[in-house]
Amino acid sequence: MNTPNPRLSDAFPKTEQDVPDYARLNGPLHQDTYLVDGQMRTWAGATHTVTSALGYNTDDGFKPVEVGSYPLLGPTEALEALDAAVKAYDHGRGEWPTMSIAGRIACMDAFTKKMIAVKDEVVKLLMWEIGKSHGDAVKEFDRTVEYIVATIDELKEMDRAGSRFTIEQGIIAQVRRAPLGVVLCMGPFNYPLNETFTVLIPALLMGNTILFKPPKHGTLLHFPLLEAFRTCFPAGVVNTVYGRGNSVVPVLMHTGLVNCLALIGSSRVADELKKSHPKSNRLRTIFGLDAKNAGIVLPDADLDLTVKECILGTLSFNGQRCTALKILWVHRSIADKFVQALSKAVEEQQVGMPWTDKVSITPLPEPNKPGYLAELIADAKQKGAMVINTTGGQAFNGLVFPAVVYPVSSNMRLYDEEQFGPVIPIVPFDDVQEPIQYLIDSDHGQQVSIFGRDSHQLATLIDPLVNQVCRVNINAQCQRGPDVFPFTGRKDSAEGTLSVYDALRSFSIRTLVATKQTEDNKRILNEIVSEHTSKFLSTHYIL
Ligand code: G3H
Repeated sequence: MNTPNPRLSDAFPKTEQDVPDYARLNGPLHQDTYLVDGQMRTWAGATHTVTSALGYNTDDGFKPVEVGSYPLLGPTEALEALDAAVKAYDHGRGEWPTMSIAGRIACMDAFTKKMIAVKDEVVKLLMWEIGKSHGDAVKEFDRTVEYIVATIDELKEMDRAGSRFTIEQGIIAQVRRAPLGVVLCMGPFNYPLNETFTVLIPALLMGNTILFKPPKHGTLLHFPLLEAFRTCFPAGVVNTVYGRGNSVVPVLMHTGLVNCLALIGSSRVADELKKSHPKSNRLRTIFGLDAKNAGIVLPDADLDLTVKECILGTLSFNGQRCTALKILWVHRSIADKFVQALSKAVEEQQVGMPWTDKVSITPLPEPNKPGYLAELIADAKQKGAMVINTTGGQAFNGLVFPAVVYPVSSNMRLYDEEQFGPVIPIVPFDDVQEPIQYLIDSDHGQQVSIFGRDSHQLATLIDPLVNQVCRVNINAQCQRGPDVFPFTGRKDSAEGTLSVYDALRSFSIRTLVATKQTEDNKRILNEIVSEHTSKFLSTHYIL
């Protein structure tokens, strides 16, 4: 066996004493309850043991840390959760879908306060369950709270706009947005809190009832929030579905009772689940899926800035972002210079644990990921590419040092496959039509980054590229935020649009009350409004 590189092996603590207090787990968290129909039900069946990619590198070998365990519910329990959500929605007559917007906002405000109270616990679990650095875990938590606050503000704005009557061609109408029904929310492991909540929260605020399936990795961190969900919303409005996705999710879809599927994950799973719904026209889908965002580096690019942005784009959270730059196209005239500068910057990245100062590279939570990345690198090497940086591709347990792979060509797996990890494929090009054609042929269409200084050349690229992807970043990495910006993609990258503004609209439908403008109808409307007998037909203004 090869001796591991001490840069990687020494990055792990030897004992618990090496972990700072704020990051130390207080023993494993064995979750034996789950939230359904307003109750925390006890589970005595099978469980999944959560083993961290973090562990102790002892004299007797590597000892991974057990973070805890969570229930592996089966189809019966999943269907019970669905029943609870269907009952709480009650064909749109339930307490939650008919509650005033102000009432729903009050529930969400109460939830947010309780959520903030468990921040430290959630942040700690983000570190241990998915290896996210402490700084990024805190950022993920805070960004989620900010997203909730911004969504509430947007909802108030939307409600104010809907609080007026419109008169057109002799018809008086009040147009508002109404819920869709039962929404099944499934988030990914890389942003298990944030991405799940960017669908769950707007879906909830719009009056839908929720089935919420946490991702396989990043599950326990939701446990501290369950009590807040239970106490802040009416029974059955938020229900959890724990278990293996393939055992509990298809069964839910087959019933035809899920009205909206919100999934941030793979296009393969999205496709299968969508097809498993028996009444496809009744299903709305909001998807954030695969992406292979490209960076295009033009001959006149500012090298320092481009390297800095490419490091952020390719390696933030070890490249495990749907928005990560997953392939870099570099003009041949500057390719060697760029590759050397990027490799140098990669070698300078700090490897460590989530609590390590200035850490950038942390262990990967998916046990099979290091092996998969090694396969991609071996494939590229066998077909003529090289790993340029000295430590590139070396691994110790879940810790994989980023590899700059060059020159990558179309016959290599790294050219098309979404590596979702710390491997940086670089393709040299002579004509800018080559990366454009790559994007045209790609199955993905989320974002692109272009690096250059000539405004004329950039302009000639912007126009074809905005019709291939949904965000063109100039001299900047690809990213989702700020969350007020629309986040979506073409082809296999997304369905529907998410943002503070868009998500509320994605999880609701426009509905109106209309009547002919006669004296009697005006009287009826005036009486309803002044006596506050309807929550929908109302001119009440939330300030
Ligand atoms: O994995 C996809 C995330 O939404 C990425 O968000 O680009 O703001 O880091 P971000």
